[in-house]
Amino acid sequence: MNPLRAANSPEQSVIDRVAEVADLVTVALDELLPRADGPESRLTEAMRYAALGPGKRLRPYFAMEAARLFDIEERPVLRAACALECVHAYSLVHDDLPCMDDDDMRRGRPTLHKAYDEATAVLAGDALQTAAFDILLHPDTHEDAEIRCELAARLSLASGARGMAGGQMIDLLGVRDDLGGVARMQRLKTGALFTYAFEIPLIIASAREEHTHALLSFAHDIGLAYQIVDDLLDFDGDEDILGKAAQKDAAQGKTNFVTLLGVDQARHRVAHLADQARSHLDVFGPDAENLKASVDFVLNRRN
Ligand code: IPE
Ligand code: IPE
Ligand code: MG
Ligand code: MG
Ligand code: MG
Repeated sequence: MNPLRAANSPEQSVIDRVAEVADLVTVALDELLPRADGPESRLTEAMRYAALGPGKRLRPYFAMEAARLFDIEERPVLRAACALECVHAYSLVHDDLPCMDDDDMRRGRPTLHKAYDEATAVLAGDALQTAAFDILLHPDTHEDAEIRCELAARLSLASGARGMAGGQMIDLLGVRDDLGGVARMQRLKTGALFTYAFEIPLIIASAREEHTHALLSFAHDIGLAYQIVDDLLDFDGDEDILGKAAQKDAAQGKTNFVTLLGVDQARHRVAHLADQARSHLDVFGPDAENLKASVDFVLNRRN
């Protein structure tokens, strides 16, 4: 690293913290995911391929960083963040299947159905989803069963027909020709799991109303901005840096923020959402400086 660049600049400390959380999550997931000796080891290996691969781990990062706003232990947050990452990994495995986006590359490597086969990819997605709930409901996640149940209930809402899976259905049907429709699809497809990252510390801390409202508003704006950046990167990103194919959405007839608004308006919307997201955190005072600094890091990403 350039020694003239301040080691503790806000940008550098976000980069360091994202890397630190990514390592923690990978080590924890390696422990938590099942291993098998018999013929079903093909399935457990495929699950590991999908979940332990080089993802950015941004949702766990947000869970862990938001947790620092509250007086709570890190361990339950890390376990719940691993559960969230299992659902995210499953969503990507299924998203890449030929019957969905039909992609060959993910995280710079062959997609799971290319590395294994389609049936194994379907099963690995299924089993990653149930692994998430296995992790959340284990007593090691939290001594209070009510908190464990609430963590599981919220993740199931965020993943199902009224969350990620519902949003994926709308994405595939292409039934949206206005911004409201695209925003709703995004809220389900990407926003719900993003929001869950912030619900983890809110649930564990039994946070008060004012803090819940502020953090969920931040989650809404940063999740929406995140998907618009994903759409922008699909439009003009570099496949080698992205680690996945680009220029696919328009080719597959998908409507998204970029196809509807154009690049300039889409970028403008991201900048506006970033400002709005930061302002929601004012209620936390200086404690939220790291979270505020993470907004630019996330939105300037190139992969
Ligand atoms: C990709 O998610 C799919 C979207 C919802 C935009 P990420 O960009 O978080 O993917 P990984 O986990 O880093 O590979
Ligand atoms: C996928 O959105 C969102 C999921 C719920 C998996 P995309 O289809 O745009 O994600 P990428 O671009 O393939 O990562
Ligand atoms: Mg998709
Ligand atoms: Mg896709
Ligand atoms: Mg995309």
